[in-house]
Amino acid sequence: MPKPVALLTGATGYIGSHTCVELIAAGWQVIVLDNLSNSSPVVIDRIARISGVRPDFIQADVRDRSRLDRVFSTYAIDAVIHFAGLKSVGESVAAPLRYYDHNVTGTLCLLDAMREHDVRRIVFSSSATVYGMSGEMPLTEESRLAPSNPYGRSKLIVEEMIADIVAATQGWRAMLLRYFNPVGAHPSGTMGEDPAGTPNNLMPYIAQVAVGRRPRLSVYGGDYATPDGTGVRDYIHVMDLAAGHVAALGCIGRKGLPPLSRINLGTGRGHTVLDVVRAFEAASGRAIPFRIVARRPGDAASCYAGVTLAHQVLGWKAMRSLREMCADTWRWQAANPHGYSDRAA
Ligand code: NAD
Ligand code: UFG
Repeated sequence: MPKPVALLTGATGYIGSHTCVELIAAGWQVIVLDNLSNSSPVVIDRIARISGVRPDFIQADVRDRSRLDRVFSTYAIDAVIHFAGLKSVGESVAAPLRYYDHNVTGTLCLLDAMREHDVRRIVFSSSATVYGMSGEMPLTEESRLAPSNPYGRSKLIVEEMIADIVAATQGWRAMLLRYFNPVGAHPSGTMGEDPAGTPNNLMPYIAQVAVGRRPRLSVYGGDYATPDGTGVRDYIHVMDLAAGHVAALGCIGRKGLPPLSRINLGTGRGHTVLDVVRAFEAASGRAIPFRIVARRPGDAASCYAGVTLAHQVLGWKAMRSLREMCADTWRWQAANPHGYSDRAA
């Protein structure tokens, strides 16, 4: 039997690369398409080393419609996972049109190419940021949608575009996966998150402090109504997230399932910033100096997922603990202090 074929856009990036490895292990043929605007081609070597299979790589932009035509004509693609996009909240506030261009126009091009080439299965990387954060926790898929920045709005617009095409056309199937806070790395220590410039997110920042690239962590706010006053988030190991995508592709065509599902991918548990600092210190054996500074504008006190639907629909649950998230991040960071530019590692 020929292997089913998945096109993964944005899969030299952090989440896509880990998903690629898990899909190959699950018996898929994977085609990677990425414009390398926020990732390194070395990732393909790492995927090949882990998997024993080198996925075909196409350096292209999802907004390049004629290039997409060629890709869909070349391969008999069964399903698409669409990771490609820009993801910094702060940048999206400063350059909103750029975000709508890559995230919304990019998805429009992709959906149109899929329509033309009769490929009707899509899994989309959405985000917890589509929810309003002021209400009750946990956030369930029924919680109020109220993104507070252009990045979040671009994700919600894409969710609605996909829902519209699914409603309009027989045979389309879609899974909109709303990720909470992906962290961690492949347990081999050869793949992980490699942010350009100063990390915006907590875990990569802590990892760079631990490895000596930054002197200390600034903890944004110590006076939230949380157990220790610092922000609470639902951190999910990237390998669990990858397994969630394998589960989504495994059941996307299942009889009895609605053609479109919106599903949270998180652990259902919250941890404070200081919980993460302590867990990372234990995993790395390094002290993480920090100081508490002012709150970061726009941050919620607390955000964690309701995960019942993921379990019901996908038969999937996040398995890995905060300790494993920190241990795997540390293994990656210690072996690759400068990320993928440390090519010898
Ligand atoms: P990432 O930046 O590591 O990966 C995204 C990839 O897309 C990069 O390799 C980049 O080069 C590529 N890309 C960007 N614009 C492109 C374009 N126009 N054409 C082709 N390729 C393009 O990010 P990630 O953390 O792996 O995130 C993957 C997806 O998940 C994104 O859509 C992101 O918005 C979403 N998401 C991420 C998080 C998170 O915290 N990491 C949380 C929720 C949702
Ligand atoms: N934090 C610090 N210091 C830092 C970085 C973060 O104290 O240097 C704190 C934040 O204040 C927050 C927690 O650590 O309490 C987590 O912050 P992250 O930036 O790692 O994650 P966020 O939850 O703020 O944002 C993430 C994604 C966004 C997405 C959002 C909601 O980065 O893209 O989740 O899904 F919109």
